[in-house]
Amino acid sequence: MTFLRWYNGKNGHQFAENVCCLQQNDDGKCRKDCDTYENLGSWEVISLIEMFDVWKTYPNGTNALKGINVRIEKGEFVYVVGPSGAGKSTFIKLMYREEKPSKGQIFLGGFNVSRIKERQIPSVRRSIGVVFQDFKLLPNLSVLENVAFAMEVIEAPQKIIKPRVMDVLGLVKLKHKAKMLPSELSGGEQQRVALARALVNSPGIIIADEPTGNLDPETSWDIMNLFEEINNRGTTIVMATHNREIVNTMRKRVIAIEAGEIVRDQQRGEYGYED
Ligand SMILES: Nc1ncnc2c1ncn2[C@@H]1O[C@H](COP(=O)(O)OP(=O)(O)OP(=O)(O)O)[C@@H](O)[C@H]1O
Ligand SMILES: [Mg+2]
Repeated sequence: MTFLRWYNGKNGHQFAENVCCLQQNDDGKCRKDCDTYENLGSWEVISLIEMFDVWKTYPNGTNALKGINVRIEKGEFVYVVGPSGAGKSTFIKLMYREEKPSKGQIFLGGFNVSRIKERQIPSVRRSIGVVFQDFKLLPNLSVLENVAFAMEVIEAPQKIIKPRVMDVLGLVKLKHKAKMLPSELSGGEQQRVALARALVNSPGIIIADEPTGNLDPETSWDIMNLFEEINNRGTTIVMATHNREIVNTMRKRVIAIEAGEIVRDQQRGEYGYED
C-alpha cells in the first residue's frame, strides 16, 4: 500500500511518499517530519489514525513491527487479530504513545504522536480511551472514584465530574455499584468500570487490548455489545482480540498481523486462525 501525499510547503517541494514531510533534502529524503497536518497546504484525505511505514524494534533487538501502513477512518470498528507474539499489543501501544516507533510516523487526529512534546501528551491521551485485559482499576478507590480519576487527571472542573461519572456509569449499567470497591465486583463488572473510565472524557477513539481475555463467553458478549453501542454513537474502536467467536459473529473490519506485518485487511472480515 502506498500513500502518495503532497503539500504546498513554503520551500515549494512537491511531495513526500509514505511520510508526512515538511522539508525534503535534494536527494528526496525527508529532512523534517510534520508535527501536525495543520502546517501543510493541502492533503488528500485526513484519516483519524494513520501509520506510515512504522517499525518497532525493542531494546533487546526484537523486531515487533516491520513497516506498518494503515488508515483508520472516523467511526470505524476494527479488530486486530494474529498469533501470539505477532505485534498486536505493540501496534496498540504505539497509538496511545505507551511506546514510540523506531521508525515511521503515526498520526492521530492529524497529530504526529511520535513527535508531540511532553506537555502535549495529556491532550492526545484525552482523545483516546484505553481498555486492557486486566482492567487496571485502582484497588483502593471506589467505582465512582476510579472513573472520576480519569477526569481529575485532565483537570476537568470539579463540579462537572460527578454528574458526568454517573452518566457513564448509567451507560454501563453500574450506577447502583458506584460506591463499591473493585474487589467487590465480578470480572465483567470491573471491565464495565474500565470501559466507563475510558469513555468519561468523551474520546473520539477507544483502543482495547484483549478486553474480553479474562472474561467468560457470556460476560464477553455483554462487554462487546457495549463496545458496539459506543461505536454506534460515533466513537472509533480499535481492538486486539483472540476471540474468534466474537470476530466471526460481529463481522467488522479485520486487520491481521503476523510476525510484525499486516497480512490481511478485510471489511466484514473473519478471525481466520486456529488458536
Ligand atoms: N517490552 C518488550 N521488550 C522486548 N520485546 C518485546 C516487548 N514487548 C513485546 N516484545 C516482543 O515483541 C513481539 C510482539 O509482541 P506483542 O506483545 O506486540 O505481541 P501480541 O501480538 O500482542 O501477542 P499476544 O497475542 O500474545 O498478546 C514479541 O516477539 C514480543 O516478545
Ligand atoms: Mg498482546
